[in-house]
Amino acid sequence: MENFKFANPVKIIFGKDTIKEIVKEIPQNQRVLIIYGGGSIKKNGVYDQVTQALQHHTWFEFSGIEPNPHYETCLKAVELINKEEIDFLLAVGGGSVIDATKFIAAAVDYGGDPWDFMTGKSKINGALPFGTVLTLPATGSEMNKGFVITKAATQEKLAGGSAHTYPKFSVLDPETTYSLPERQTANGIIDTFVHVTEQYLTFDNHALVQDYFAEGILKVLLEEAPKVMTKPTDYNVRANLMWASSWGLNDWIGQGVETDWATHMIGHELTAFYNIDHGQTLAIVLPGVMDVQRTDKKEKILRMGKNIFNITEGTENERIDKTITAVENFFQSLNVKTRLSDYNVDEVGIEKIVQRFKDRKWALGERGNVTYDVVKEILQRRR
Ligand code: NZQ
Ligand code: ZN
Repeated sequence: MENFKFANPVKIIFGKDTIKEIVKEIPQNQRVLIIYGGGSIKKNGVYDQVTQALQHHTWFEFSGIEPNPHYETCLKAVELINKEEIDFLLAVGGGSVIDATKFIAAAVDYGGDPWDFMTGKSKINGALPFGTVLTLPATGSEMNKGFVITKAATQEKLAGGSAHTYPKFSVLDPETTYSLPERQTANGIIDTFVHVTEQYLTFDNHALVQDYFAEGILKVLLEEAPKVMTKPTDYNVRANLMWASSWGLNDWIGQGVETDWATHMIGHELTAFYNIDHGQTLAIVLPGVMDVQRTDKKEKILRMGKNIFNITEGTENERIDKTITAVENFFQSLNVKTRLSDYNVDEVGIEKIVQRFKDRKWALGERGNVTYDVVKEILQRRR
């Protein structure tokens, strides 16, 4: 296990009927901006619960954060914050709303173009305080410092993060997720699954706590996924999925180990160019990464096969194949398609993505050997 130094400062408020608790977390004298997406929170009662809780605060609202949030939209929120002298932000929604809020919080007092945070041209030196009310378990954004923002003008989707962009608190009420369409529930399960594999499915880091914890999260997903598909309002199933997603990416299982993230980086390009949902992109790419990286990842794929899917028979290569098939079958069991052709991405599309990796000179993966030519091989196998 490698050395590590880490603190996750996010206060979690978990459970039924907990949205009203936000009043205790935001000082009475703060001017609050509620940030949300396309309006799902108005249909499922979450908006009413939030505004009820803030009835004695001075609050404003900013809506219209799109899935895969746009830089351009975030800048409009910054304008409103300056105009209304807002002190505190409250993100109410899924990963997109939370990510946008992080970016907005950091952008408010930055003198330059905040896209600099995404390209690495500038560091984040401060941010407005913010809390979150999570309505879509998937990204872990409610319990980490990361955010992913898309510049629509150039079709670029990039990730950023800073110690200043942790939420002060996050409210996780599983009942808010009853209204999720099946597609978003499935996306969230796949996103959580792949967050775990990005940190676990590398090489043997001799980090048993992290490994068993990771396997525990994967088992929760496999156990609860079929149940949520047939009974979307089972509280305990929703609660387990919600808490699993926070743990998938609250960065604890990634401590002391080398992490991968190639699947995510390739997936981001599929979203940037083709607007494919984040979870769907991961379902396409992960089986390809496992296949192409089968030698580098051998020990961990075999371990995952045995401990998660009970695959113990056959040669090493056969067991690796069976494990990759089991992963893909799991994604398909959630009615998610796993091939590029299912989303009309052709050879030209693959070339476009590969060119980006070539231009950026990125070398991804836990060993830093996933260069553009390897990305090409991965995508070719997923046609
Ligand atoms: O916009 P509204 O109307 O709220 O509808 C949303 C949206 O259309 C809807 N939704 C959310 N909660 C709902 C609901 N509909 C009914 N009932 C509810 N309770 O779901 C749709 C998708 O929402 P979105 O927030 O886009 O999904 P998700 O949470 O999957 O977030 C995806 C974004 O997060 C980024 C992704 O790249 C993508 O941009 N990620 C962020 C990460 C992080 N910050 O750590 C890590 C992830 O790997 C990921 O990259
Ligand atoms: Zn993800």
